Amino acid sequence: MHDPLASLYPHHLTTVRERADKALAAGGFDHLLIAAGTPLRKFLDDQDYPFVANPHFKHWLPLIDAPGSWIAYTPGSKPKLIFVQPRDYWHVVPEAPHGYWVEHFDIVIVRSAAEAIAQLPAGKCAVIAPNPAIDGVEVNNPQPVLAYLHWHRSYKTPYELMLMREASHIGTRAHRAAEAAFRAGESEFGIHLAYLAAAKQIDAELPYASIVALNEHGAVLHYTNFDRVLPAHSRSFLIDAGASAAGYASDITRTYAVPQAAEFQALIDSVDAAQRGFVAKVRAGQSYPELHIHAHHVLAGVLREHGFLRMSAESAVESGVTSAFFPHGLGHPIGLQVHDVAGFQQSERGGMIARPDGHPYLRMTRVLEPGMVVTIEPGLYFIDILLAELRNKPVAADIDWAKVDAFRQYGGIRIEDDVVCTDDAPENLTRDAFAQAG
Ligand code: GLY
Ligand code: MN
Ligand code: MN
Repeated sequence: MHDPLASLYPHHLTTVRERADKALAAGGFDHLLIAAGTPLRKFLDDQDYPFVANPHFKHWLPLIDAPGSWIAYTPGSKPKLIFVQPRDYWHVVPEAPHGYWVEHFDIVIVRSAAEAIAQLPAGKCAVIAPNPAIDGVEVNNPQPVLAYLHWHRSYKTPYELMLMREASHIGTRAHRAAEAAFRAGESEFGIHLAYLAAAKQIDAELPYASIVALNEHGAVLHYTNFDRVLPAHSRSFLIDAGASAAGYASDITRTYAVPQAAEFQALIDSVDAAQRGFVAKVRAGQSYPELHIHAHHVLAGVLREHGFLRMSAESAVESGVTSAFFPHGLGHPIGLQVHDVAGFQQSERGGMIARPDGHPYLRMTRVLEPGMVVTIEPGLYFIDILLAELRNKPVAADIDWAKVDAFRQYGGIRIEDDVVCTDDAPENLTRDAFAQAG
């Protein structure tokens, strides 16, 4: 059977190896050692938190369940996978490596994390590991190596984009099921179960904790409670939930209204139209922070158009009014991590590009280039503490508070897509996947 991942993987691995060669040269190292990591133990317990593999490890191969394993790479040689397959009858033992990628590695199977360490080469090693204290290895996470690898991880290979398309397909399929559960009158908990069933992923496998928020709960930006009790009336539904594919993330938000909430639906439609406009600007050379500021101006216009504000869009942005309704960043890089690395990085050597003043939650300050994948997730919310602050400012006189108060019952709106910057028009992973999900 022809597997497109199998044909894309060799080029991906070549790219990862070339980057490793340069990163090692930049740091003056002979070998790159990457630990998958080991699970964190719960305090005073004999159980672990769910295992999450080191993203550097997942970048080389599609193995997400390999605690204790290592990749050892020496420029010029085939990379080595030291794979831990314990003798264990208490837990499911990770399956021996198989699939399209194994021929590209020298694979050594060992029985314990300690045996894996005994297989690592000696010499000048850049050791990338999440746990700094590992017996028998000096973990150094060298800055020049990490800076180089993080910077270049922003540019996704065709193989990575294929996995991100897959993560988007799984996520949008599950979003469709969640919307149907909302329309059928389910509780947040019930909607969440419908989402997981359609994604065929458990919570621990998702790239982040899902937000499933009915009514006012949509105003809590990271609402992760899953109320078991159905509200008396479901009016609105904000869902921010993603899915994983071989360690790659999707991050998707949609907001829905019941048919009776026509005013709120109209506001959703305006945010949706604005969001499509921002997505269209995901083009090479576009400064992401400038796009974020542009979003403030457009959303100010939406607030005006819907009668919340009487001031100009310009003065709504200047006076901080838009920050009360849109209090988070426009988005972030995404890939092996939902909030992927290097969103602020200045160059492959490191450094940091500061956020614009007054925008403390923006997670991306770089200029967009082909191969980058970012989220575009504008929102408008009715958040009690931020509105209370706004009410005490002089600009409060130019806000229709009766209108604002009438919308608190809906919580808020966010529309979030994952978008690839290309040499040409952007690729919208999320909308493409929704279109195919029917
Ligand atoms: N779901 C996390 C985020 O949207 O950034
Ligand atoms: Mn996001
Ligand atoms: Mn999200």
